[in-house]
Amino acid sequence: MLLGLSNSTKLAETLTKLNYPQALTATATTLVMLLIGSATIVLSQQSSSESQNSTDEVTPSGLEAPGVALDPAGQPIAFSHAHHAGQYQIECEFCHAYARRGPVAGIPSVERCVGCHQSILTDQPEIQKLLEYWENEEPIPWLKVHNLPDYVRFTHKAHVRAGIDCASCHGDVKSMEIAQQVESLSMGWCLDCHNEREAPRDCLVCHY
Ligand code: HEC
Ligand code: HEC
Ligand code: HEC
Ligand code: HEC
Ligand code: HEC
Repeated sequence: MLLGLSNSTKLAETLTKLNYPQALTATATTLVMLLIGSATIVLSQQSSSESQNSTDEVTPSGLEAPGVALDPAGQPIAFSHAHHAGQYQIECEFCHAYARRGPVAGIPSVERCVGCHQSILTDQPEIQKLLEYWENEEPIPWLKVHNLPDYVRFTHKAHVRAGIDCASCHGDVKSMEIAQQVESLSMGWCLDCHNEREAPRDCLVCHY
């Protein structure tokens, strides 16, 4: 209920800020009911079964990261995009292979890293950690950097296929030592571009 209340309050603020016409308020009220409904379902699912994961169907291996990176420097292995994607020019989609095909871009499996690191820098401590995950057949517990709320529907496929560059939403990852979120991922941010690009703006396009 607390969650529901704060959603409706915030919605009112959001709508005022965005200057929605009165007519939308009815849609909005319905949507808030839906949001409260799904939040309640999510909450009760979480309490009844801790390990339930609502995005199972398309979860590539390694995406089951247990936490969210508040401090991205706390990653289990010091992986550098600047070296791999910048200096060595490995394509984004070589590692994030689902971006064009599904909702999530995906985090590469240990196997993908070992493909190179079975022979590259094998005596380096960070690579030894990597090879240990491989030997123990454990996924690397990467912390998530981006994390939209569960009631938001986002899919990479539509955006990548519309020709939007990774950098439009993720910034210059090629120069990042540590992957960071550079955009707010707020509703206003999504809507600004949808407006500009004449993409759909119906509430239910982005909300369940
Ligand atoms: C060699 C493999 C590899 C390549 C190439 C690569 N990445 Fe990554 N990427 C990773 C790994 C591993 C992670 C998880 C660890 C981390 O966050 O740094 C990650 C994380 C990310 C994240 C943060 C994900 C989250 O948790 O929210 C973004 C965004 C990202 N990559 C974008 C890109 C882009 C854009 C490119 C191309 C310019 C790229 N990556 C190239 C392996 C790669
Ligand atoms: C296509 C080959 C390739 C893949 C795939 C690859 N790496 Fe690398 N990696 C390299 C090369 C090349 C270097 C630099 C070697 C050197 O400096 O001599 C490197 C260096 C590193 C280093 C040392 C620090 C640095 O950045 O120079 C770490 C740690 C590392 N990689 C982790 C990973 C992880 C984790 C993955 C999987 C997400 C991965 N690598 C996938 C080629 C690869
Ligand atoms: C229109 C904006 C947009 C574009 C374009 C985009 N992303 Fe994302 N990306 C996002 C958002 C938003 C999230 C957070 C999704 C979530 O938390 O559910 C995300 C999450 C990710 C993640 C974390 C894991 C996942 O899949 O959720 C990776 C990795 C990633 N993006 C890589 C890429 C790569 C590589 C490209 C280019 C091929 C790309 N993205 C293009 C907006 C974008
Ligand atoms: C840089 C521009 C840009 C940003 C930022 C952006 N979008 Fe989009 N989005 C588009 C475009 C363009 C399309 C239409 C693609 C097409 O024509 O199929 C689209 C389509 C979509 C679709 C419809 C997919 C389908 O089924 O057809 C969803 C859902 C969506 N965006 C959600 C979001 C969300 C949620 C955010 C913010 C987290 C966001 N978008 C941010 C440009 C953007
Ligand atoms: C293009 C995608 C998109 C569309 C269209 C969209 N939203 Fe959102 N909405 C989002 C995102 C992303 C968030 C999460 C923002 C955040 O976490 O800061 C959000 C958050 C919300 C919230 C939670 C408010 C908060 O601040 O916590 C409500 C309520 C909401 N949206 C209602 C609506 C209504 C009503 C409509 C139709 C008038 C709508 N949304 C259309 C993307 C969208």
